[in-house]
Amino acid sequence: MNDTLLLIDDEPHILSAIKRIFAEEDLRIFTASGAKDGLEILAREEISVMVTDNMMPGMSGLEVLHRARLISPDTVRIMLTGHANLDTAVAAINVGEVFRFVLKPWDNEAFAATIHEALQRYSVIKQLRSGDEAVMLSIAQTIELKDPYTRGHCDRVAEYALIIGNELGLPAQTLADIKYGGWLHDCGKIGVSEFVLRSPSSLSQDEYSLVKNHCLWGAEVARLAHLPERVINIILYHHERYDGNGYPTGLKGETIPIEARIVSVADAYDAMTSERSYRKAFPPDEVLNILSSVSGTQLDPALVTAFKSRMSQENAPRLVAAR
Ligand SMILES: [Fe+2]
Ligand SMILES: [Fe+2]
Repeated sequence: MNDTLLLIDDEPHILSAIKRIFAEEDLRIFTASGAKDGLEILAREEISVMVTDNMMPGMSGLEVLHRARLISPDTVRIMLTGHANLDTAVAAINVGEVFRFVLKPWDNEAFAATIHEALQRYSVIKQLRSGDEAVMLSIAQTIELKDPYTRGHCDRVAEYALIIGNELGLPAQTLADIKYGGWLHDCGKIGVSEFVLRSPSSLSQDEYSLVKNHCLWGAEVARLAHLPERVINIILYHHERYDGNGYPTGLKGETIPIEARIVSVADAYDAMTSERSYRKAFPPDEVLNILSSVSGTQLDPALVTAFKSRMSQENAPRLVAAR
């Protein structure tokens, strides 16, 4: 089936200007000049992405988005907004009501990029719903491509997390969820622009809060795709810290689900043993020592111990060196 886009705006010239941007693309576009018409189309058609104006007679953009979420939860929602209403748009993003907002007057190229990312998110949700293992891995790998420095990251995180899970003797179903969660832990990065992800310098406050949102966005995608609770927990809580100073919720110690604490150790290990845009990779031995130094603050001490004991066994260095 073709991708579909629904545009809701009371100004006809806005509708036609947006349609022109996608004239060459294989995209079915529906337009509505008001909220009521727009929501009717949403109820009737399968809509991948919708864009709605913030200020319309009869119903605010926020209300349209809220109702849209109830009518068609999978449809990715984008708000079109002027500078004067920027605060509303940012608030809407923070509560998960919208995927992105587009500021008027917009830049066509940036607009198209936003829509393409939204379409990608829609297709990710649909595909994840299949629950197929190969599909999950290929989605994780596709998302990684946004940042060349994280290539192979999700696969390795899953592998390290399984080392810990096996060391703890966790049941098979939990191990399977840990593997999927390891693959998908950063899947919320489809919501973060490539510009921010590839930024070689340190991030501004705003950019950093966008990056931090990847946990919430990813968990929402996973929820919409009906993935198992443990997989959602990993995506949502993999940046929490054992001492409670992490994000997005500040959960502490054992209140952080164990599957997420495991993936945090694996994620930290892989992040430090790989090269990043802003620094070189550290040698594995050194990284194991660094893990010990953040054990009890950033990471769960028992899990660091389990990981280190397994990684320092005879066959482990070969596994690390092979990457
Ligand atoms: Fe992450
Ligand atoms: Fe990660």
